Amino acid sequence: MGIVLETKLPMKKFKKGKVRDVYEAGNMLLIVATDRISAFDVVLPNGIPFKGSVLNMISSFWFDLMKKIVPNHIITTESTEIITKADIPKEYEDMLKNRSMLVRKTKPLPVECVVRGYLAGSGWKEYREKGSICGIKLPEGMKQSQRIPFPIFTPSTKADTGHDQNIAEEKMMEIVGEKAGRELKEKSLKIYEAACDYAEERGIIIADTKFEFGKTNGDVLLIDEVLTPDSSRFWSKEGYAPGRSQDSFDKQFVRDWLESVNWNKQPPAPRLPDDVVKKTSEKYLEAYRRITGRTLS
Ligand SMILES: Nc1ncnc2c1ncn2[C@@H]1O[C@H](COP(=O)(O)OP(=O)(O)O)[C@@H](O)[C@H]1O
Ligand SMILES: [Mg+2]
Repeated sequence: MGIVLETKLPMKKFKKGKVRDVYEAGNMLLIVATDRISAFDVVLPNGIPFKGSVLNMISSFWFDLMKKIVPNHIITTESTEIITKADIPKEYEDMLKNRSMLVRKTKPLPVECVVRGYLAGSGWKEYREKGSICGIKLPEGMKQSQRIPFPIFTPSTKADTGHDQNIAEEKMMEIVGEKAGRELKEKSLKIYEAACDYAEERGIIIADTKFEFGKTNGDVLLIDEVLTPDSSRFWSKEGYAPGRSQDSFDKQFVRDWLESVNWNKQPPAPRLPDDVVKKTSEKYLEAYRRITGRTLS
């Protein structure tokens, strides 16, 4: 199957994200991961071969592994079943194969459940300014990218436009209610801890990640994508050293190349050269291999 940059299914569009196209099918959603890639918050003109499949299948792998900790929105990731259940014409089956999941439509809880095991990104920034993140006090003198003694739950708002903002736990409880808030925190930390240990044994550090939860008939389900390189910071364990920023496992070639051409980070982004696309595709495939122990062909 070739590269998919855009999808045009004969269904109602629910949302077009930077990377995924989401459609409605009654009380279900069809989430299609395209091969689009973004860098510095801008979608690039190139597609990355296998990226959509890798993202979708890594997510699907974790949903399955974590279902003993938390129930999730997945109905099926099997393309034959997807087209039957969502009543999609057969001609779309090939395109959907490996890159899509049919899920239960929920009412998303309006917070992002971020868990951090290492000091990076906005967490590092906040720590340097205040010595704490989301009101959680951390030891003094920590270095950039250092492992935090215990993974911390640092929720943020879910902004439709602009950047999500870190909020204190109490604020999150106000937004979603105390009972749901406690559950979100507990589940998020449990999933992250399990995934972090699992991935680290396989050479990938998941420095931090973001979960989303949704409600349906009183159940709280894990939704969206989980523990993918798009929703998390993946670092390679071999190259890890605290005291500096770390290379991104998947996007480093893209970022380095974009920096090298002095692009001003405003759209439109320049077209990536073939070798950068190829090396990036290989990184995604490697992430898939390391995490699942399987190869994708
Ligand atoms: N099971 C679900 N029920 C309802 N909404 C969902 C479900 N799974 C994912 N979503 C929503 O679908 C949207 C997917 O958009 P996304 O691809 O993440 O776009 P963006 O690039 O803006 O992050 C998100 O708003 C997410 O909350
Ligand atoms: Mg998103």
